[in-house]
Amino acid sequence: MGEQTFTDQYQEWKRKTEKLMSKIPERKEQFETSSKIPIERLYLPEQQTEHYIEKLGFPGEYPYTRGIQPTMYRGRFWTMRQYAGFSSAEESNRRYKYLLQQGQTGLSVAFDLPTQIGYDSDDPHAKGEVGKVGVAIDSLKDMEILFQDIPLDKVSTSMTINAPAAILLAMYIAVAEKQGVSSKALSGTIQNDILKEYIARGTYIFPPKPSMRLITDIFQYCSTELPKWNTISISGYHIREAGSTAVQEVAFTLANAIAYVESAIQAGLHVDDFAPRLAFFFNAHNQFFEEIAKFRAARRIWAKIMKERFHAQNPKSMQLRFHTQTAGSTLTAQQPDNNIVRVALQALSAVLGGTQSLHTNSRDEALALPTEASARIALRTQQIIANETGVTDTVDPLGGSYYVEALTDSIEKEVWSYLQKIDEFGGAVAAIEQGYIQREIHKAAYDYQRDIESGKQIIVGLNAYQIENDEKPEIYRVDPIVGEIQAQKLKELRKTRDNDAVNQRLSELSQAAKTNENLMPYILNAVKAYATLGEITNVLREVFGEYRLN
Ligand code: 3HC
Repeated sequence: MGEQTFTDQYQEWKRKTEKLMSKIPERKEQFETSSKIPIERLYLPEQQTEHYIEKLGFPGEYPYTRGIQPTMYRGRFWTMRQYAGFSSAEESNRRYKYLLQQGQTGLSVAFDLPTQIGYDSDDPHAKGEVGKVGVAIDSLKDMEILFQDIPLDKVSTSMTINAPAAILLAMYIAVAEKQGVSSKALSGTIQNDILKEYIARGTYIFPPKPSMRLITDIFQYCSTELPKWNTISISGYHIREAGSTAVQEVAFTLANAIAYVESAIQAGLHVDDFAPRLAFFFNAHNQFFEEIAKFRAARRIWAKIMKERFHAQNPKSMQLRFHTQTAGSTLTAQQPDNNIVRVALQALSAVLGGTQSLHTNSRDEALALPTEASARIALRTQQIIANETGVTDTVDPLGGSYYVEALTDSIEKEVWSYLQKIDEFGGAVAAIEQGYIQREIHKAAYDYQRDIESGKQIIVGLNAYQIENDEKPEIYRVDPIVGEIQAQKLKELRKTRDNDAVNQRLSELSQAAKTNENLMPYILNAVKAYATLGEITNVLREVFGEYRLN
């Protein structure tokens, strides 16, 4: 058959979409505006330019520029997934239940810093940080409390954990087992993205090589034991928060993604066995149209990388599925209610850019962790965008806009030149070790900060439209007693558990860590014996050593 005409391809897309809808119907029978004008699922150019298929394609089809699902939000809204966690597992469990009861559709766990860098709450390194920026998790006992009365086969959970990701994933599997839920039924995501920790966030523990090994162990283990689990959330969020530009955010994130795919292939995995479960995480910043174009460009670039560089065959390996968080760094401590407007616009850009999951920041987060009232307004922001604006009634509504398409093309072009430069370094790990990526981000951050200081970039309430006696809202404070409570719980645990079994499991893990075996089963056994996060991490520190980026 000759080259399919545009019309043939469109008819075929329509047939496939109708078939999908027999399984997952659209939200409404008829979509129409307030003036009863019918709203089409997809709008196309008047003249079928030959570029359309190559540059945009149909939603749910390569190169996915217009979205990864044929019906997008006409079929299902993005997951409303608020990042939350603080103080003890009991406190956080209460907040999760509150958010689910308020209509949130996915969980997202924030761990405190000691947990993120593998220290127990009673470790001297943990002093003053227990439960402060997230929930303190020391053992399977805390994890059981964190998810008490939350059915893990009914909710998808994201866990923002990187260096000790394998340990927290093992705890989650063990909690599910105690609930009678098979690991095969679990859906969710583990961030598990160590490269951006070296670049921007800083919660790394081990050197790059053993860190990459732990990550590919998770890829391999989940490919058979947790088929619905997203094994990594390759993050641009923190790169942007460190001051990168939108182009750098996409470029450095995709460069890291390439490094993870290469590492998994070197570990013997076949690309289509793990790539469908790679996920991404981006920032939604202030420049509205640039953000929308950024998401569309990222989807198209990733699709081409997976098809042309890694020869993936499975379309799901080429689909860039991502979570978005509105930009924490744009929140101002001054006039905090202004942040509700910033977050709403940033959230709207993520939706118009086709996000699969979204966290909206709270107005008071430049000052402290969010109060319940602020977290509720943040969630309501998403619910208003989803249900009242009509932007979810057609797929990729800004597709075809002269400005958005031009911006998408420009961003794509600049990202490719960064990717080429990083390839010349020998890939993301080498570029990070040589400080290239960090220098690029620092330059961009310095320029942006200078623009604010000079007034070239207006930030309302900060360098313009200030008020003298800016009111300070009521803010949430973590009770420092949580450190003592956690230390007490650990003391109790070490008295009541079977310490011989713990030591046996830890020594088996230590032996396995010196081989090329997959460590997940050993970590799972240690977790089930109630070995603590710190004990397990210390075994790995012994074998892998600790890493300090100069
Ligand atoms: N038609 C048909 N099916 C559809 C559909 C449609 N229109 N829309 C969705 N679906 C299906 C999907 O295919 C999927 O089914 P599958 O699993 O069988 O494929 C199901 O509905 C769920 O949809 P998604 O997978 O798109 O949505 P999820 O929410 O489950 O997953 C994700 C989204 C981006 C893939 C996932 O990785 C995720 O949830 N990530 C969240 C990460 C996160 O929350 N991170 C927080 C980090 S906080 C942090 O680091 C910042 C701090 O440091 C400050």
